[in-house]
Formats: sequence, C-alpha cells, structure tokens
Amino acid sequence: MVNIGVLISGSGTNLQSIIDNIKEGKIKGKIQLVISNRKDAYGLIRAEKAGIETLYINRKEYSSPEEYNRKILEELSKREVELVVLAGYLNILSQEFIERYSGRIINIHPSLIPSFCGKGCYGENVHEMVLERGVKLTGVTVHFVDEGTDTGPIILQRPVEVEEGDTVKTLKERVLKVEHEILPEAIRLFCEDRLTIEGRKVRIK
Ligand code: GRF
Repeated sequence: MVNIGVLISGSGTNLQSIIDNIKEGKIKGKIQLVISNRKDAYGLIRAEKAGIETLYINRKEYSSPEEYNRKILEELSKREVELVVLAGYLNILSQEFIERYSGRIINIHPSLIPSFCGKGCYGENVHEMVLERGVKLTGVTVHFVDEGTDTGPIILQRPVEVEEGDTVKTLKERVLKVEHEILPEAIRLFCEDRLTIEGRKVRIK
C-alpha cells in the first residue's frame, strides 16, 4: 500500500476523484495527508469528510519558499508519504523538495503539454489561451514533476475536443471530466509499480 500525500489550493475535484477511486478499491494506495496553502480550499472539506488528515500551512508564517517547503516536507515524512500528488496546487516546489521526492511527484495540467503550459499557465487561463488560439483539440496531461514548470516526463495524456461556441466554463467542465479519469489512472499505475522513467520518457509496464 503506497502512502500518498496530496497538495491542493482549490476546490479539490481532482482530490475527490482520487478519494473515490481508492474507496472503490482501484488504487493500491492510501492518502495519509492533504495539505493546502489556502485556508479556504474546499478540498480540505472533501478530505475531512473522507476522514483524511488535513493541514493548512500558511505561507506567511515562513520566511522563504525554502522554509515553507521544508515544513511541508517535514509533515509528509512524518506520515511516511512515498508519492506526492499536486492536484491543483498553485505554489512552487523548492529544489530540495523536488530532489527529495525525485520521480515521486505527479502533477496534472489541463492541456496537452508542451502546448499551453509553463509560467503563468494554470487553471482557467489555460482554457482562455486555448479558446483564443482557436485550436480544435486540447486535453489533459499527467506528468512527473522535475525542476522546470510543467516540463517533467509525461505519464498519460488524453485529448479533449474544443467545440463551436465553447466558453471557458464549458471547456473547463469537459476537460475536468477527463482529468478525473486520468489522474487516478496514473496514480494506480504508480502504486502498481508499472511506471519507469527513462530519460524524458515514461514507460508503462
Ligand atoms: C484543474 O484544472 C487542474 O488541471 C489544475 O488545477 C485545477 C484543479 O482543480 N492543475 P480542482 O481543485 O482539482 O478541482
């Protein structure tokens, strides 16, 4: 059973999909802790309802990003977390964090990386850029986190059609549905030890 830690900043619908998949016995893992950098993140409520320990860690109480990340690392190691999942977590991870959990941090991004990603591309502004560019296909990417922004080895991707008349709201909803399928799938594969990182690529056994 893999000990999982989930970092969130918002509504936590991706967290909810992980909770539900674990409950249905689809993932050989257990969420030991949910940490948010936002006190009002609804994902904290979702975790509490599922009986999962939660922590709100206030960035303002720490003198630097490094100190803040060190506190998070401390809490994760107290619970022997082996896999860190970033489920809509909008904060930078320190170099120390990424080295400590190298190859064991999974992130989800609401586009087909390397399109519409990188600095400043997160949440709804990804969908705004997709609509503005007029692409016919967007999608979802689940990847391992490395020291870059959305540059780590890709685990799974799935396309999502952009439809005539789509708004940010309608597109976001369609993309989220796919997010809720492929993030748990990537975590399931990790927990079954079926992911191998080979350079910039991920091989699924
Ligand atoms: C999702 O769109 C995800 O792709 C992005 O942040 C959003 C999180 O949504 N990283 P939620 O908090 O899981 O509902």
